[in-house]
Amino acid sequence: MLYQTVNPHGGDLYGRAVTLDFSVNTNPLGTPTAAIRAVEEAARRLCQYPDPYCRTLRAALAEYEGVPEAYILCGCGAAELIYGYCGAIDEKSALLAAPTFSEYAAALKAAGKRVEYVPLEAVEGFAVGSRFLEAVEKTECRAVFLCNPNNPTGRLIQPEVLAEICRICRERDIRLFVDECFLALSDGGREASLAGWLEEFPRLFILKAFTNSYGMAGLRLGYCLCGDGALLAEMSRRAQPWNVSLPAQMAGAAALGDKMFLEEARQLIREERPGLSGGAGGIGLCGLPVPGELSAAEKPGGAAGASAGAGDPDPGLLQL
Ligand SMILES: Cc1ncc(COP(=O)(O)O)c(C=O)c1O
Repeated sequence: MLYQTVNPHGGDLYGRAVTLDFSVNTNPLGTPTAAIRAVEEAARRLCQYPDPYCRTLRAALAEYEGVPEAYILCGCGAAELIYGYCGAIDEKSALLAAPTFSEYAAALKAAGKRVEYVPLEAVEGFAVGSRFLEAVEKTECRAVFLCNPNNPTGRLIQPEVLAEICRICRERDIRLFVDECFLALSDGGREASLAGWLEEFPRLFILKAFTNSYGMAGLRLGYCLCGDGALLAEMSRRAQPWNVSLPAQMAGAAALGDKMFLEEARQLIREERPGLSGGAGGIGLCGLPVPGELSAAEKPGGAAGASAGAGDPDPGLLQL
């Protein structure tokens, strides 16, 4: 819960009337019916503690992701895992793109780490490209954070750039954190995941959430994939045993059973994207051309037309 802190994410539906909310990026189809039914079923068992090992959910995730169960840790939303990761790693500094999701820097700073930014340029469509690669090659930071596709730009990282970043980080023994929370809804799809690298690169950490893909923001369910069991154990030690509620565990397992849900959502997003990007102009937002990916728009008075300066994680972009 926030306490004596301004909510940095907007969308405060509970504090005031919000008619148009661009602060949340979740599945336009809402929540799968199977997940809603699972929550109703869980409601009859609320007197019971949840499974602290998330056994059923973890088994379902292992099958879905094609990774060993030992590589999976679940959390109370992806955000809890971001904070858990930043607290658990020994590395003292991290390299981030700017703009990117603000919670990485917030969690790193809360854990006493130093943050360095690589500005993404508007003229390059905010792509993570050769300049980011160069920065990874030269950096003295011992951890690198990526978001693919990036929030708030919506840009996917080209597979060859991603593979090169993995290669450099592995060679230089740098930890690589990759947030794939939006990947399943993008045109890249789950196939663009770095999960295939986990075996050979144990310092790779992949973040996923039911929040966005399965429209479950209110339930709080995220998970991560990593071959470094010692890191996952340390993250687990820093969390409470029952951090994933029974409704969240049951809804997560049920959602994975709906095999068509993500594909249908991707299709809908593909169809709606041109109208949404174009229509953004009608309400004073300037759409950024990001075909085939998620969409982004510049806030009125935003600085997207100029370079996002180092240390400026928010150049005035909204992800649509
Ligand atoms: C980049 C990114 N990662 C992860 C999440 C999901 O976080 P959580 O599951 O804690 O809501 C979000 C939320 O919108 C996000 O923008």
